Amino acid sequence: MDDYLDINKKNWDSRVPLHLEGYRIQEFFDDEKYISDVVRFDLPRLPKLTNLEGIHIQSHIGTDTVSLIRLGARMTALDFSEPALIAAKELATKLGLDLDTVHCDVYSAKEQIAKKFDFVFTGIGALCWLPDINKWAEIVSYLLKPGGFVFFREGHPMLWSIGDSKPNGDLAIELDYFEGEAYLSAEETTYAGEGKLDHPEIISFNHGLAEVFNALWANGFDIELFEEHRSVPWNPLADEFIKLEGIDEWELVYKPNRLAASYTVLARKRYP
Ligand SMILES: C[S@@+](CC[C@H](N)C(=O)[O-])C[C@H]1O[C@@H](n2cnc3c(N)ncnc32)[C@H](O)[C@@H]1O
Repeated sequence: MDDYLDINKKNWDSRVPLHLEGYRIQEFFDDEKYISDVVRFDLPRLPKLTNLEGIHIQSHIGTDTVSLIRLGARMTALDFSEPALIAAKELATKLGLDLDTVHCDVYSAKEQIAKKFDFVFTGIGALCWLPDINKWAEIVSYLLKPGGFVFFREGHPMLWSIGDSKPNGDLAIELDYFEGEAYLSAEETTYAGEGKLDHPEIISFNHGLAEVFNALWANGFDIELFEEHRSVPWNPLADEFIKLEGIDEWELVYKPNRLAASYTVLARKRYP
């Protein structure tokens, strides 16, 4: 657990070259209106971004970040993976878009950033790499102007608690739902792109929904939107999930109403 940052950084660095092949980046160049599936999924819920200044924390290779720029925002990208940030900057530059970058761990953002933003965006598959959700909400609050908002989608804590299915196909709750334990896993491949990772080990953390909401309330936020979804933008359980038509989203093959696989939140920072 103490070395989770080092283990996870190596893992995420090693995913970058594979994701650069697997994230369908060419689509941004083929269509000047193209935005990533992750951002497109949440378009009906996302406030108007024109002329707002945002920071995308855990921005990865920048596909969601440049999508937010295409929706009218000025953006800063923050990530602890230097290769990911270099790729994000290169993507933005090649598309003719301005992008500031900050290279640091989420929990060090206060030491690196003095500026305040209109919104914080966090795309799916981000909170699960952070051990302490309250500390995350405190950083997000620090980064925002009063009246600013945080918008995020995350894998549902119920989904993260499911382990390997039983031989008869039943879903098996095996892992913690509540925050606390670090979960070490190792997978040689990644969810986008071909090839093997140089650093397959990764450490993740679950955060129950009440833990997320209480962290937001305690750090000065009001919840304006909360939605649970049946789908998630990767295949989390191989044969149990099926890809939806027309978008990179997967849901349970059999009775998808059984499981909330992801959720979206919009929370606004209160005025003092
Ligand atoms: C799944 S990606 C971000 C999701 C985004 N939807 C995407 O697919 O592009 C997760 C990102 O979190 C970053 N990350 C993980 N732990 C971090 C930490 N403690 N501080 C900053 N970045 C972190 C990784 O480097 C990676 O780029």
